[in-house]
Amino acid sequence: MGDFRREGGDGGGNGGGYRLDPVSGRCSASRVNPRATPSLRISRLVVQNFRTFHGPTEIPLASAGGVADEVAVFHGGNGSGKSNALAALELFFRLAGLWMRQRANARGDYFTLDWERLTDDAGVIASPRDWPPSTREFMHIRVHFALGGTAMVSIAHAGNEVLIGMDGVWGQSVDGNQFYAGELQPQEQERLGTIRAKVETPLGPGSRPLFRLDARRREHRTGQTKPRSDAPASPLSAELATRLLDLATSLEPLDTERWRAFTQLISRFKTLAGREVNVLRLPDGSADLRFEIRGKQILRVSELSSGEQQVVALCAAVLTSRAAIVAIEEPEISLDPSYQELLGDMLREQVRSGLVDQIILESHVPIFDGPEVVRFSRSPEGVTSVVRQPSDLVGADLRERARARGAEDQCLSPPPGLTRFTSGTRRSKRGKGRSRGRSAVCSGEDSPFSRATCP
Ligand SMILES: Nc1ncnc2c1ncn2[C@@H]1O[C@H](COP(=O)(O)OP(=O)(O)O)[C@@H](O)[C@H]1O
Ligand SMILES: [Mg+2]
Repeated sequence: MGDFRREGGDGGGNGGGYRLDPVSGRCSASRVNPRATPSLRISRLVVQNFRTFHGPTEIPLASAGGVADEVAVFHGGNGSGKSNALAALELFFRLAGLWMRQRANARGDYFTLDWERLTDDAGVIASPRDWPPSTREFMHIRVHFALGGTAMVSIAHAGNEVLIGMDGVWGQSVDGNQFYAGELQPQEQERLGTIRAKVETPLGPGSRPLFRLDARRREHRTGQTKPRSDAPASPLSAELATRLLDLATSLEPLDTERWRAFTQLISRFKTLAGREVNVLRLPDGSADLRFEIRGKQILRVSELSSGEQQVVALCAAVLTSRAAIVAIEEPEISLDPSYQELLGDMLREQVRSGLVDQIILESHVPIFDGPEVVRFSRSPEGVTSVVRQPSDLVGADLRERARARGAEDQCLSPPPGLTRFTSGTRRSKRGKGRSRGRSAVCSGEDSPFSRATCP
């Protein structure tokens, strides 16, 4: 346990994609150059005494066979703890970075900070209210990395101060008795530096471990003449727009290539296709995008449909975040099923092309499911529990899609599990076009009604 240096484990895909070199964060002009192995992918997260997580709660991000998810999906009702799990992961990386920075010039496995400094100077979002009611026990957040090794940050509420410890760097437990006092040896310095680089800048200089896009939306009130001044103009945040401006105006050809990858991605969404995209600096120094149909119309990003704005924001986030792990809350916001499906495919491609190591989605719709989903629920006492289950995509969603394509109800009420379409239940829709008929009925007498056989 606790060895960050082990190599091996599950590799990343080597599929096609953009000409990006995620190690440098640059694009290759000549060929796709994905990393063979992701640098930072998580196979398990264990959270204890954080918000709705009470006892140690395991959040598995790997299949039973131990292969970590490329795209992990958190499902569950409102308030079940999905965002809290992402907040715990964010807190882990912030505290781990803080611990390592402190460790470099202060001895000991724990250090204390007052609360104000924890939230202000250190930029760590944590407060005494993050403990579940009625406990002040250690909060623990443990991360198991797919490449091997685990690390755990522990944080204790000590009156006006907070005590922060980390386990997994030297191999001892924070609950154990080994304390490292005195000067660090040169090898220890080097080891700490290596681990720090892996955790803080896993994709090379300028990168970060985690980028999290929350589910914030604009607020409109009846009778309000002007939007509230603190309401964002669009889901494309000022920071994301500025990062796009930096790419588009960079004199570095590889940045330009990344900008092009962004424009190509959004043009795959049919209502955005055929529009020329530019990013411009506004007089106040902020950036905005404009979408042009030459000689006919120019729209600002805030004038696009809400679904189109979401697509723009999500593509910009994934392409500019330079983060190993990208977490997106409710990617389905404002998107119709076809856009949801396209977005899901596009996100998977980004992992397979090596641009990001792992994507974590918090979603309420089955279109984003992988073969398995991580299902959150909350007890009447307010405690989150988590199980990993096969996706139910083979159930309701496929039935819905088949129905939309003209299949009859009698063909769509299977016993649980697979449904087989026999020749007696097949149906051909005359005059509706070949592809439609084919989609409604799976090919082959005994074809299982499965994702693989129903396009
Ligand atoms: N400090 C806190 N910040 C946010 N939510 C908290 C906090 N402490 C407890 N909670 C609880 O967490 C719940 C929200 O969980 P969340 O993870 O956001 O749900 P969801 O599954 O919808 O993403 C709230 O019902 C709230 O009771
Ligand atoms: Mg949430």
